[in-house]
Amino acid sequence: MSEGKNLVGVDIGSSSIKVAEINEKRGRRSLVSFGYHPLPGETIVDGHVMNSGAIVEGLQKLFHKQKRRDVALRVSGHSVIIKKITMPQMTAAELEEQINWEAEQHIPFDLAEVEIDWNVLSHRTEQGQMDVLLVAAKKEEINDLTNLAVEARLRPRVVDLDAFTVQNAFEAGYGAPPPDQTVVLIHVGASLTTLNILAEGTTSFTRDIANGGNQITEEIQRALGISAEEAEAYKCGGDGRGLVPREVPEVISQVVDQLAGEIQRSLDFYLATSGGVEVSRVLVSGGTANIRALLDAIERRCRVPVEQLDPLRVAQPDGKKVDPALLQARSAQAAVAFGLALRKEREKRT
Ligand SMILES: Nc1ncnc2c1ncn2[C@@H]1O[C@H](COP(=O)(O)OP(=O)(O)OP(=O)(O)O)[C@@H](O)[C@H]1O
Ligand SMILES: [Mg+2]
Repeated sequence: MSEGKNLVGVDIGSSSIKVAEINEKRGRRSLVSFGYHPLPGETIVDGHVMNSGAIVEGLQKLFHKQKRRDVALRVSGHSVIIKKITMPQMTAAELEEQINWEAEQHIPFDLAEVEIDWNVLSHRTEQGQMDVLLVAAKKEEINDLTNLAVEARLRPRVVDLDAFTVQNAFEAGYGAPPPDQTVVLIHVGASLTTLNILAEGTTSFTRDIANGGNQITEEIQRALGISAEEAEAYKCGGDGRGLVPREVPEVISQVVDQLAGEIQRSLDFYLATSGGVEVSRVLVSGGTANIRALLDAIERRCRVPVEQLDPLRVAQPDGKKVDPALLQARSAQAAVAFGLALRKEREKRT
């Protein structure tokens, strides 16, 4: 249950900041603003902010003409643990009391250092049990992130994770999958890949792989002995004159095949341990979803149809404030910002 206006979605990634604002009126959603700001290399390393000035400056630029400053932020998966646990059936109030004790059993962090959140996924009444999704995120990283937003004169109201924001965007754009279908959402950014398996209508398995588009760029750089900027340009389709050394597609296909292999192993593990049904569909988002060879490699290895997730199914641009060329070029990267922009000022746990 949620009420109030939508928050502005602010996705501070390691390679760029993406901002999306969605209006909802009488059940109709429209995208009222979209912004993109590239960040210099090494701004965020392994989830740690190394160059806070670059982020604050980027936020100030992006929000220069933005009236609304209540935002939903995304925290990187580097310092987050997500666990699905089974507990005896209990009321919400009992769970509230019990949750810290449960977290202590399942979370390998000091509880004083983490924020705990949870969501009841399903009740298995016959067995007297329920499945609960437990999330623990390091306070330090959340505080660093919200402080940067405050420094840029924003009001952080919600902090979310890639896996859940992409799921929100998917469900809003494509509809919740039927309970008998398994759908896999894969978000591949610059430094991190997040896997979220939806089964029986809810999150059934999540996994982070510390790997993404950066690795492809680094391998191209190494193979050709060129700068990171040159390698990045080759990876994204060439130097503008269509000239790409023949090593580039070879390196790309090697690296994406490794990543697809990791993904395949995760899906195999999930299927073997959960007894779940075969995957019917895979949707890929994040900047690295622009690489068709990655989608083909996942399709080949997992033998399941793979497509790019289209965030524009969530909301179409409205008015002149959205630059269509920018949105088109960055749509794969916009999934998290769109998912964040669906969050509201006031929400209740369901
Ligand atoms: N057209 C393209 N072709 C190939 N790769 C692309 C393209 N556009 C963006 N990328 C890659 O996508 C990555 C950036 O994606 P994204 O914006 O989703 O990451 P991020 O949110 O900044 O990073 P992270 O969430 O991993 O910290 C970079 O590695 C970039 O090189
Ligand atoms: Mg990202």
